[in-house]
Amino acid sequence: MHGNNDESVVRVMNLILLGAPGSGKGTHAEFISESLGIPQISTGNILREAVKNGTESGLKAKSIMEAGGLVPDEIVIGVLKDRIAGADCKDGYILDGFPRNVAQAKALEEMGITIDRVINIEVPDEKIRQRLSGRRVCEGCGASYHVEYKPTKKDGVCDKCGGAAVLRKDDAPETVIERLKTYHELTSPLIEFYENKGKLHKVTGQEDVGDTKKLVLDAINA
Ligand code: AP5
Repeated sequence: MHGNNDESVVRVMNLILLGAPGSGKGTHAEFISESLGIPQISTGNILREAVKNGTESGLKAKSIMEAGGLVPDEIVIGVLKDRIAGADCKDGYILDGFPRNVAQAKALEEMGITIDRVINIEVPDEKIRQRLSGRRVCEGCGASYHVEYKPTKKDGVCDKCGGAAVLRKDDAPETVIERLKTYHELTSPLIEFYENKGKLHKVTGQEDVGDTKKLVLDAINA
């Protein structure tokens, strides 16, 4: 979607990053956000914040997230609507973790939102299990690390805020199995959904984050 006026051309771009849990959606959404200057909207991060703050949505979401299921659509769609109404979203945004099923994708359409590109990062389940067991997330600011690929300078301590960098509760191996099941059953049908609309760009997740970044940029500029 592109908007313009007499003085300048403002490029509005709404992107979706699709992929299984741990495929690198968050890592690449952050990078695209920095490159294009548009916000990353992670429904997972917003829900974790709601859980931390003990809000009504957070209380409803907590046990579902810890079990690896999907939070009910009416909660997540409400959360998303509030977020994209923010002034910082006027030139576009990157949806990281939304939509998570076909009903959520249809809700976006009903809101009249134009999606420019959907980038699907493909990573095999076995690799995902390995990545998530090594991920560490800061309890304070939410910064994400990996013991092997992106270690903190000091073991267990966030480089950015000094908070504790710990294993996310839902990154426990048995929960990752459930999250992958949920993904294959409910989220992966979105690949065909967006393929049929001519929006889908497939990227094969690489060993090296930098190599995947290049492929993601190519997909954005395609
Ligand atoms: P959410 O927070 O969205 O979790 P997720 O989809 O399971 O995704 P992750 O954050 O686990 O992984 P990622 O793909 O961002 O990978 P990352 O870049 O960190 O959702 C959590 C929960 O909230 C859901 O289970 C659900 O309950 C609920 N929820 C959220 N949205 C919802 C919705 N719309 N509807 C209903 N419920 C919803 O990478 C993983 C790790 O790998 C990192 O440590 C990274 O450093 C490392 N890594 C190693 N090598 C690479 C490489 N080459 N490329 C990228 N990363 C690499």
